Amino acid sequence: MLLGKKIILGISGSIAAYKSASLTRLLIKAGAEVQVLMTPSAQDFITPLTLSTLSKKAVFTEVSSESAWNNHVELGLWADAMVIAPATATTLAKLANGLCDNILAAAYLSARCPVFFAPAMDLDMWHHPATRSNVSRLQGYGNHLIPVGVGELASGLSGEGRMAEPEAIVAHLEQFFDQSKDLSGKKILLTAGPTYEPIDPVRFIGNRSSGKMGVALADAAARRGAIVTLILGPSKLSPAEQNVQVIRVETAQEMHDAALQAFATADAAILAAAVADYRPKTVATEKIKKKGEELQLDLIKNPDIAAELGQLKKTGQLLIGFALETNDEESNAQGKLERKNFDFIVLNSLRDAGAGFNHDTNKISILFKNNKRRDFELKSKNAVADDILQAMIDLFKYNNS
Ligand code: C5P
Repeated sequence: MLLGKKIILGISGSIAAYKSASLTRLLIKAGAEVQVLMTPSAQDFITPLTLSTLSKKAVFTEVSSESAWNNHVELGLWADAMVIAPATATTLAKLANGLCDNILAAAYLSARCPVFFAPAMDLDMWHHPATRSNVSRLQGYGNHLIPVGVGELASGLSGEGRMAEPEAIVAHLEQFFDQSKDLSGKKILLTAGPTYEPIDPVRFIGNRSSGKMGVALADAAARRGAIVTLILGPSKLSPAEQNVQVIRVETAQEMHDAALQAFATADAAILAAAVADYRPKTVATEKIKKKGEELQLDLIKNPDIAAELGQLKKTGQLLIGFALETNDEESNAQGKLERKNFDFIVLNSLRDAGAGFNHDTNKISILFKNNKRRDFELKSKNAVADDILQAMIDLFKYNNS
């Protein structure tokens, strides 16, 4: 799975850097091409010579030296993945804040590939709120945390903070690249973003949905090999993956028409859009002028796209919905799951910090038809997207078994 993969291994200054030698060896053995970058303090723990010998490539320790400029932008584009192991508290703080005073940080800021970081530090440093916040910011940017191990630490303390073992880091990367094609050939329809319901030529009824969750789902599904159609309401965002077919719409009615058409040939639909339930009964052809103290707007119901797709759903097709709730979360979501004939519903509560509109993170629970429920931790929307897709893949497999 790592055969031919180009991997940047960024090493920062922790005693765990001694494990970077065996990590390099394992990556090379798995067929990867490894470019090692070291921070100045990493060299206090392990020498560039050891790592260049193992990686069969010159190690970069500076952005520029007397004789050369090490092009971090090129490096950032070259790599299929960047792994920062060990990632010290200082390096996490720098990366979380965009500080760029060494080759590792420069390559990180230039990297377009997925980035993994394996922290290593003492127990109390790991639990400090500053570190916690840096880690969740990095996850919020879409970077992948390779969880720390628990056990004896170099300080003599015992607890959380040990860098994951090189074998575990390699397994993490293998799993990432392995899952990358598990939706190969599947046609996935997504709705995302808000809808705008016009009142007159300049005004509309809308909502605060950013489209982030739906766009993250579209990108994640495309990375995993799916043929993705994204019906996107007015959102500033676009998917990063090239092979997502984007249909831009504005109103619920337009989203409805596009969704019905695409659903006919889809294997699954994930409805992440925040669709306006009502629209103005008439749309004024000219801008409405300011008149009395009150203005009455008559609203009529929009089509419920989810409910209609639920009616049309054929054996083998999956329909997945979202419920963003502020109160009575579980019973509201359960009601929607049944009414709209979803296979599962993704619940997020606006009461959870870091969940819902506009955040880079989300905290979800998945409710299934058989009253089963899975709760997930607060994660980046990219990581949440992979959890949702994994639940969908498990259901595809279960239905075919
Ligand atoms: O708005 P509500 O909470 O009912 O949304 C639940 C689910 O139904 C979401 O997945 C949403 O995308 C979908 N929905 C829809 N068409 C609507 C309203 C909601 O597809 N008119």
